[in-house]
Amino acid sequence: MSNYHIKHLEEYFQVYRKSVRNPEAFWEEIAEEHFVWRKRWNKVLKWDFSKPEIKWFNGAQLNITENCLDRHLHIRGDKTAILFEPNDPKEEAQHITYRQLHQRVCKMANVLKDEGVKKGDRVCIYLPMIPELAVSVLACARIGAIHSVVFAGFSSTALATRINDCDASMVITSDGSFRGNKTIDLKGIVDEALNHCQGIKTVLVVKRTGGKVDMKKGRDHWLQPLLDKAYADYTAEIMEAEDPLFILYTSGSTGKPKGMMHTTAGYMVYTAYTFKNVFQYREDDVYWCTADIGWITGHSYIVYGPLANGATTVMFEGVPSYPDFGRFWEVVEKHKVTQFYTAPTAIRALAKENLDFVTKHDLSSLKVLGTVGEPINEEAWHWYNDHVGEKKCPIVDTWWQTETGGILISPIPFSTPTKPTYATLPLPGVQPALMDENGNEITGNQVDGRLCIKFPWPAIARTIWGDHKRYKDTYFSAFKNMYFTGDGALRDEVGYYRITGRVDDVIIVSGHNLGTAPIEDAINEHPAVAESAIVGFPHDIKGNALYGYIILKETGESRDRENLKKEINQVITEHIGPIAKLDKIQFVPGLPKTRSGKIMRRILRKIASKDTSNLGDTSTLLNPEVVQEIMDGAL
Ligand code: PRX
Repeated sequence: MSNYHIKHLEEYFQVYRKSVRNPEAFWEEIAEEHFVWRKRWNKVLKWDFSKPEIKWFNGAQLNITENCLDRHLHIRGDKTAILFEPNDPKEEAQHITYRQLHQRVCKMANVLKDEGVKKGDRVCIYLPMIPELAVSVLACARIGAIHSVVFAGFSSTALATRINDCDASMVITSDGSFRGNKTIDLKGIVDEALNHCQGIKTVLVVKRTGGKVDMKKGRDHWLQPLLDKAYADYTAEIMEAEDPLFILYTSGSTGKPKGMMHTTAGYMVYTAYTFKNVFQYREDDVYWCTADIGWITGHSYIVYGPLANGATTVMFEGVPSYPDFGRFWEVVEKHKVTQFYTAPTAIRALAKENLDFVTKHDLSSLKVLGTVGEPINEEAWHWYNDHVGEKKCPIVDTWWQTETGGILISPIPFSTPTKPTYATLPLPGVQPALMDENGNEITGNQVDGRLCIKFPWPAIARTIWGDHKRYKDTYFSAFKNMYFTGDGALRDEVGYYRITGRVDDVIIVSGHNLGTAPIEDAINEHPAVAESAIVGFPHDIKGNALYGYIILKETGESRDRENLKKEINQVITEHIGPIAKLDKIQFVPGLPKTRSGKIMRRILRKIASKDTSNLGDTSTLLNPEVVQEIMDGAL
């Protein structure tokens, strides 16, 4: 029996039991059989959640790009590695073979090295979904530099915060990006950010839109001329198993974004293994994940997981609504996509449109459908199942996080019977636990609680860059010897998990993780604002949208309210990005606070979701009268 490719339910249970009985032997066998190593590990796993310290395959040496590129050259060198589908359907798709990708990555690695980037340096990548994004990521890994990809929808302030936090020395960007019928001036955003970053020595600029840009002498260079001169081979840097591979920022409920640090060997083994199983990947498949590489989904399941398996992975530059709402399905038909992985928010948006956009395309190539990023509601699940999968494609509702590096709970297609809104069963090696508020594990089925993981899996983030204490406090302090996910979950009568949502102050909007604190901080920068509180409320398409309760300063009281709302959203756009804009803004005389001064968000959430029949106990509030006033003015 191969641990590496599960094909039916009984096999899943066997493999799962084995993985839990002896996790080290389980992962060792996979690591041995399916990857190339420069040196073997001394110890498969060393861990202590109380520190926390987690080391997988310690002592091993490797380069992840040798596993994603070099080893494929002699068996599938001419196979398409990246299939690039541009924003404009009239622009031709590009089929980049493994051989070509290897050359492009090597050239880029030489450029990075020539520009002074060394092993361990941080390189910030702020690029649209064009091949150079994947090439840059892999080139960093090739030379041992740590990539920090920042989603190219983030504002200059958000970009600057992320550059400074990890002290990056280089930014790779483009003149601009195409998104539907819009063109965005990315280089202008970078220039603005760099007014606040001292550490950046070099900016490499990809030409994509041909828009006008300012090039700062000595700092900014067009990339192409450098690539043209670069040598097309580069001996991969030998990396230790636990050397950092990348940093990726995610929002917390408080404070600045957390730079989750992932390391090399465990991440590689886990993303490759889960990709193969969760998507039941086979050699001739054409796999498409519609995420952006600016998020963890893109890192693990557009770049590393698929390439480590020698897969063809589609990179899509555009948006689902351009040139019309049939674009996803047109691309599926055109490239005969076999696995399609997207977010519930996209499904809900497309389900609202005319069904002709779907039915006019031949989707018969599809075998497996996936969702990620937020709970999928039953209606969206059925629409996806009936109209896209034509009831013959299992839907994998994959639950995981930036911190987990890879999928932890998900059906395995053709093995695990699916159930709408359920992520179902833990993948091999994953040991979930539901905990009550007193810190006790809730055993048995038909129960709900806080979702924790009891045992390390190879792709768990190892720390928060520059702040190990925060890593410990956030994930390992709520429950003893457990990784706490921040999510609530229930376990049904057969042991299937359903993720019920965040139990902290993180709000998932259109699948994007947004912390309330940074948004409130941004709003409070507006001169007319005294204080603010943000909560989520249910939204048809986005899953959740943001509702802001705002107390104005006296100076703001006389201002035009509609203008103020626009200005507040403008401030949010500048500080974070348009994804964090508020759908509703209510100006309030006060916020419900406990005697210790904590805002009682539970009440605000209920008012925002128009569910005020039972507000619970408000007797501990310092100012209970404000609740009625807020309810009277609710939107
Ligand atoms: O609340 C869970 C939700 O997204 C959070 C993680 O967000 P992020 O780090 O941005 O990573 C998203 C992509 C992996 C989780 O804590 N989430 C993710 N997937 C699901 C989900 N909620 C329900 N069902 C899912 N399948």
